[in-house]
Amino acid sequence: MEETKDRGIYMETGRRVRFYTINLLPGQKVYDERLFREKGVEFREWSVHKSKIGAGLAKNICPLGIKENDYVLYLGVASGTTASHLSDMIGLKGLIFGIDIAPRSLRDFYFLAKKRKNLVPILADCNKPDEYTNRICMCDFLVQDIAQKNQVEIFLKNLKFLKQGGRAFLAIKARSIDVTKNPRQIFEAVKRELEQKKIKILDYQSLDPFEKDHCVFVIEK
Ligand SMILES: C[S@@+](CC[C@H](N)C(=O)[O-])C[C@H]1O[C@@H](n2cnc3c(N)ncnc32)[C@H](O)[C@@H]1O
Repeated sequence: MEETKDRGIYMETGRRVRFYTINLLPGQKVYDERLFREKGVEFREWSVHKSKIGAGLAKNICPLGIKENDYVLYLGVASGTTASHLSDMIGLKGLIFGIDIAPRSLRDFYFLAKKRKNLVPILADCNKPDEYTNRICMCDFLVQDIAQKNQVEIFLKNLKFLKQGGRAFLAIKARSIDVTKNPRQIFEAVKRELEQKKIKILDYQSLDPFEKDHCVFVIEK
């Protein structure tokens, strides 16, 4: 087991590469991930099929730069599969503001937050950041995984919550933007739009074969 370029993310090489974080709550699973002990430390495997960041790691995406004690804004947190790994990485002095519009998903995230004390569930529409401005603070890292037609617009509206120099992970689902277009054309159009807004793109990868018709951007503010 070795640490990757990102502190707090571990990698096991072999016939296939696997990624892990150190379990903040040893003995407790969040989804159906594998738990594994080495030298008294418990690791949780980060699924590359159930998490866009997990898939990004498998595609050798550039470092995310998430650190212990960081504050994270997570747009489209759902039940917290991916957020749980970020929760492992930032530790108990960090915080994740997890926003989702769906009460059913956020209910599961709420129960996860009861156990993991660095999670803050917020039921809101990420199209309306003014509704949660007073409930969050400036963040070191931003994640967006929202399958909506206006996903780029949502991202741009929420960038104001990212500190200068902070990084963001943006997942794009081509089919939510336009089902009739070739996903590659859509990814290129999103890239041009971000560049026109003078956003610094550090990396850009298709998530194939882990997530069909998805790409991800890592940007720096
Ligand atoms: C693909 S899921 C996210 C999965 C999650 N990122 C993970 O890896 O564990 C997308 C989520 O975005 C949420 N969503 C869609 N539109 C939204 C909006 N306008 N505001 C907030 N959340 C939204 C959905 O309810 C859904 O839970």
